[in-house]
Amino acid sequence: MIEKLLDKDVQNFILENENADPFALSLKNKEFKDIPIKELAAQIAARKVAKTKLPSWYNTYSIIYPPKISMEQCSSELTAIYKSNLVSGQSFIDLTGGAGVDTWAFSKRFDKGSYIEQNENLHSLTENNFGILGVDNLTTQNTTAERFIEGFEGSVDFIYIDPARRDKNQNRVFQFSDCEPNIEELLPKLLNIADKVMIKASPMLDIDLSLKSLSNISAVHIVSVGNDCKEVLYFADTRGSENVEFTTINLTTSNEEVFKFSQSDLTKSIAHYTSPQNYLYEPNASIMKAGAFQLVSEQFNVGKLHQHTHLYTSEKLQENFPGRVFKIETVINYDKKLVAKLIPEGKANIATRNFKDDVAQIRKKTKLKDGGDKYIFACTNLDNKPIMIICTKANKAL
Ligand SMILES: C[S@@+](CC[C@H](N)C(=O)[O-])C[C@H]1O[C@@H](n2cnc3c(N)ncnc32)[C@H](O)[C@@H]1O
Repeated sequence: MIEKLLDKDVQNFILENENADPFALSLKNKEFKDIPIKELAAQIAARKVAKTKLPSWYNTYSIIYPPKISMEQCSSELTAIYKSNLVSGQSFIDLTGGAGVDTWAFSKRFDKGSYIEQNENLHSLTENNFGILGVDNLTTQNTTAERFIEGFEGSVDFIYIDPARRDKNQNRVFQFSDCEPNIEELLPKLLNIADKVMIKASPMLDIDLSLKSLSNISAVHIVSVGNDCKEVLYFADTRGSENVEFTTINLTTSNEEVFKFSQSDLTKSIAHYTSPQNYLYEPNASIMKAGAFQLVSEQFNVGKLHQHTHLYTSEKLQENFPGRVFKIETVINYDKKLVAKLIPEGKANIATRNFKDDVAQIRKKTKLKDGGDKYIFACTNLDNKPIMIICTKANKAL
């Protein structure tokens, strides 16, 4: 199939139909140059994903895209580059290569590397794409990570592993033992070969459980893009650490919010509590995932609104706060008449934090439509009362 898809006329057909609806196309019982239209529709659908997720792939002529599941599982170009900038050296191995996005990014930071993938079709297709993308310092092997490591002699600077969900039905997984290959078993073997190992995990995996189940972890990076937590990266080395270093990062189009701390900072920190003052702060998704709820209060000198309300406040603006910042206009009880009086335009962005009703219930009760410049945070205050904090944005949109 790869050969057929590489045909110039076929590639041009895919480009010309870039804006077509792949689903409607796939229903047509046709062929183009001996290729079922379904296959071409899948390539068109994958290009639509690649346009934002993998711009270098999208802008390169004759890339052959892998099946939908691999397009979903692969890293985005942005997070792949973030990871690759954390490492460099002479040699690396990517043990679960997949669509090759991470391997491609790492290949720019090392003299040479190995791409390993157990799926035969995915391996051939990605090997071909590496050639098209001009990557010439990689060897590839269609085998399992376990078999490759068993037969490996020598050492490398760095090993990367981005395990797949073991569950064939693609159900959610919560721990490394639900993933394939088995990282807990492999890690000690990998540390005999490499100085440094990076393990990528889905944000669904619990960080405390992961730290307990993996040996020799010295650092954790929690990566969000546009305030959506995408990846949690675990770094293992031969020494490991009793006090793991955390880096939380939120990559946005305009800036990078970085907040670093150690595991002991996290456990020792104590928040101070206050009722809403002039500014309201909502930590970014990476900080929330890290559970640094006490630490942000301490480090950025902002008061927490309630033990279970992860919103913060201050009198003076804390410009460097890693997250969204709002100027508080007023704080009211949960009262529809007051809302109607204070928001005559009848429109607001509503969010709830530790609140008895959800957004749909609040909209029903207050008749507020979505949108506009006003933000309402419905939450519980220090006296355990439901309140509504009405504000406007004080920092750049995420
Ligand atoms: C999450 S994807 C990797 C995505 C990749 N990092 C990328 O950016 O394209 C995981 C891949 O691991 C492969 N895999 C699963 N078990 C494996 C094993 N035991 N050995 C090698 N590859 C394996 C799967 O076929 C899948 O392609």
